[in-house]
Amino acid sequence: MKKYLIAIVMALLPMTASAAGGAKMPLDHIELDYTNKGSLQRGMATFVNNCMGCHSAQYQRFERAAQDLEIPNKLVEDYLIFDKDKKIGEHMTIGMAADDAKVWFGNPPPDLTLEARLRGADWVYTYLRSFYEDPSRPWGVNNAVFKDVGMPNVLERLQGNQRLTCSHEELLHEGIGGEVDPLTGTFKPGCLSVNGGTGELDTEEFDKVIYDLVNFMAYMAEPSKADSHRIGTYVLVFLFFFFFLAYALKREFWKDVH
Ligand code: HEC
Repeated sequence: MKKYLIAIVMALLPMTASAAGGAKMPLDHIELDYTNKGSLQRGMATFVNNCMGCHSAQYQRFERAAQDLEIPNKLVEDYLIFDKDKKIGEHMTIGMAADDAKVWFGNPPPDLTLEARLRGADWVYTYLRSFYEDPSRPWGVNNAVFKDVGMPNVLERLQGNQRLTCSHEELLHEGIGGEVDPLTGTFKPGCLSVNGGTGELDTEEFDKVIYDLVNFMAYMAEPSKADSHRIGTYVLVFLFFFFFLAYALKREFWKDVH
C-alpha cells in the first residue's frame, strides 16, 4: 500500500511544480516540419541576417547546415557567411565580445544553438512575436513572455510597432494571439495589436517569417532529429515490404508440413 502511495505522490509531483511556477502566459503553438527544406532555408537566411549580429550559434557548423538543408556550399559561402576569413567548415560564431555585450545590453545575448530545446519551440515562436511598445524600457519595447528583456525588437521593420491593448493580467491570461470566435465567426483581437501601416509585412506574412526562423532554430537544436525522421520513413517502408516477403516465405516453408 505504501508503495502505491509513494508512486502516486511521485506521479503528481510535476503538477505541483508547474502550479507553483506562477502565472504563465499561454503560448502559441508551432507545428515544426523538418521536411520542409524551403522553410528551413528561409529560416537560416533570416537567422544569419538578423540574429547573428548579436547571437552566435557556436555548436553548429555552416557546412552541416548547408548539407542538411540542401543548400549548395557555394551559396552559403557567398551569401550567408559575412566574415570573409571564415571557412564553411567553421562554427557559426560571431565577433561581438561578451564583455562589450554585457555593457551594451545589460545581459549578453546568449548562444542560440540549443535555444529551441532549452525554452521549447512554442516559447521561442511566441517570444519573437511578443514585443510591444513600452517607453519605460531602454529600447522602447517590452516582451509579453520575457518581461523587461534586454533585446530590442530587431524585426520591427517587418512587423511594425505593436501595442499592448489590455492590462498585463489579461495578457497573462489570454496570450497574445487574436483569434476567430468559432461560434460567431468574428475576429476577436488579442492583447497585442500592430499599429496599421507601420510594418512592411502584414501579421500573416510576419508570422510566416517567424515560423521559418523558429523551424530552423528547432532543427539546429536537434539536427539529428531531421535525420531520424528521414531514416524512420525508410525503415517503415522497408518493414512494410519485409512483412510481405516474410509472409510469403512462411507460406513456402510450411506448405508441405500441413
Ligand atoms: C542587437 C542585438 C540583438 C539582436 C540582433 C538579436 N538579439 Fe536576441 N537577445 C539580445 C539580448 C541582449 C538578449 C538577452 C536579453 C536578456 O537576457 O535580457 C537576447 C535574448 C534572446 C532570446 C532569449 C534568450 C533566453 O534567455 O532564453 C532569444 C530566443 C533571442 N534573443 C532570439 C533572437 C533572434 C531569433 C534574433 C534574430 C531575429 C535575435 N535574438 C536578434 C540581443 C539581440
